[in-house]
Amino acid sequence: MQADLRDPGLILERAAGLLDFGQPVAVMPIAVLHLIQDSEDPWGIVARLMDAVPPGSYLAISHPALDVHHAQPTIQKVYNANVSTPQTLRTRDEVARFFTGLDLVEPGLVQVHQWRPDPDDFAPEGVFSNHGAVGRKPGA
Ligand SMILES: C[S@@+](CC[C@H](N)C(=O)[O-])C[C@H]1O[C@@H](n2cnc3c(N)ncnc32)[C@H](O)[C@@H]1O
Repeated sequence: MQADLRDPGLILERAAGLLDFGQPVAVMPIAVLHLIQDSEDPWGIVARLMDAVPPGSYLAISHPALDVHHAQPTIQKVYNANVSTPQTLRTRDEVARFFTGLDLVEPGLVQVHQWRPDPDDFAPEGVFSNHGAVGRKPGA
């Protein structure tokens, strides 16, 4: 389906016709929450989606980082001065807030290339780092 993430009610309504909400569901806002500004309450959007799915469901997030490389705040400023859709890079603590009430699966909230890497994976730590984690809704 096509829908605006800022309208979680519509997403849930349409998803209910496609998915069995009696079974665990994977909610995967990958590389998209930085396009939702703080004033649009991305944490509330994610909480609304996770409230609607059954226990045992998972939340997987990859989110561009603000606090891994010293150049990231400047990059954000320059980028946002030149685009119509601003991006909001976030700190590790801000990304952790998306997982409130969920159990993080190992290895927790890390740079995405540190999340269960294969031994010969490329490790691109630096300006374009992303925070990433998978959380499980408890209670199942
Ligand atoms: C960096 S891409 C990531 C796409 C995909 N999740 C992936 O990992 O390959 C960001 C995507 O978010 C979409 N997007 C931006 N704002 C959105 C919104 N408010 N609701 C839904 N999608 C949005 C863009 O159109 C784009 O396809």
